[in-house]
Amino acid sequence: SRTVRLTILPGDGIGPEVTDAAISVLTAVAPDAGLSLAIDRCPFGGAGIDATGNPLPEQTLKSCVSADAILLGAVGGPKYDEAARHQGAPRPEQGLLGLRKELELFANLRPSKLFEGLEAASPLRRDIVADTDILIVRELTGGVYFGDHREGTDVASDIMPYSREEVDRVARVAFEAAKGRNGRLTSVDKANVLATSRLWRAVVDDVAKDYPTVTVDHVLVDAMAMHLVTKPASFDVVVTENLFGDILSDELSAIVGSIGLAPSASLGTPDTPGLFEPIHGSAPDIAGQGIANPIGTILSAAMLLRHGLKADAAAERIETAVSTVLKQGLRTKDLGGDADTAAATSAILAAL
Ligand code: NAD
Ligand code: IPM
Ligand code: MN
Repeated sequence: SRTVRLTILPGDGIGPEVTDAAISVLTAVAPDAGLSLAIDRCPFGGAGIDATGNPLPEQTLKSCVSADAILLGAVGGPKYDEAARHQGAPRPEQGLLGLRKELELFANLRPSKLFEGLEAASPLRRDIVADTDILIVRELTGGVYFGDHREGTDVASDIMPYSREEVDRVARVAFEAAKGRNGRLTSVDKANVLATSRLWRAVVDDVAKDYPTVTVDHVLVDAMAMHLVTKPASFDVVVTENLFGDILSDELSAIVGSIGLAPSASLGTPDTPGLFEPIHGSAPDIAGQGIANPIGTILSAAMLLRHGLKADAAAERIETAVSTVLKQGLRTKDLGGDADTAAATSAILAAL
């Protein structure tokens, strides 16, 4: 069997609970996939601050750089928000942004679809949400997250820079994805106001010339927020800049049932390890209770197998097991049921 090095970053809040669930699923599918997992758990985020004072400890970064793939739970929490506000302590979130930047994970794939049986879990009418299946491709290492930040008590500013090169490379990822799906790409921007958006639009149109089979639409982000709740089934692949993608992906996850279901893959060049994580945060309101929905992280583990390890069959096995248990009626609290994390995980293991 092939030995693969996985760095696990459980992080904070529900992070350790959902990563443990995903590791048990990875461990279950590994033998049949011919994989032997060498797992290195490292402190990261708030846990990194507690252990070393740094949200991205040197040893953790070293482990990530030499890994075949990285699985992350979530980082952050009120304790660290307080320490940042009052003692100027580092924020857990800086560790995550630092890791994404360090590995140049510029393309963040965030798929969300309506699972069979989950129609009633959507806040939208069944006829509106039916057939929703969208891949958001979020630019992850540019824009306002990484421009200059000026803090002040009276004035503050955040700069939103984008280069042609940064837009081009993420656009290509989105066009490739659209080519492999239904051939429709929606590029979301705010070109009526932002200079970066006008560059974004021009570059997307240039890249489109290399993808004649993909249909491209440009939609303004405010209208897109509306279209997602009025006609979510009409979209295929959506590509957008960092902050818009952050916001729209949370919106979309709720539309198809819960943020607890949504996975992601953050990818850079083929020779850097990918980072796989649910799109949700550390959920301090439910941390430690054993009731978090582990599915977003389990589906992130499936993306890790597919994109990180080229183990497509194992990825599909996990995705099928998740679809099966949801179809059979398994519901965690966020989906209106009473299954806890352990029950949801066992059901998925049994369905494998
Ligand atoms: P959140 O995603 O943690 O929680 C939002 C709501 O969704 C909460 O009510 C929470 O209970 C619920 N929820 C989230 N995941 C769930 C799951 N798996 N199962 C059931 N319910 C779930 O967002 P927030 O409360 O705005 O942020 C909390 C902290 O997480 C902040 O410190 C924030 O910076 C951080 N955060 C981290 C990441 C990450 O590590 N990638 C992502 C988002 C937020
Ligand atoms: C996410 C999170 C992060 C982001 C935060 C924690 C920095 O919300 O992964 O979606 O904004 O990218
Ligand atoms: Mn987010």
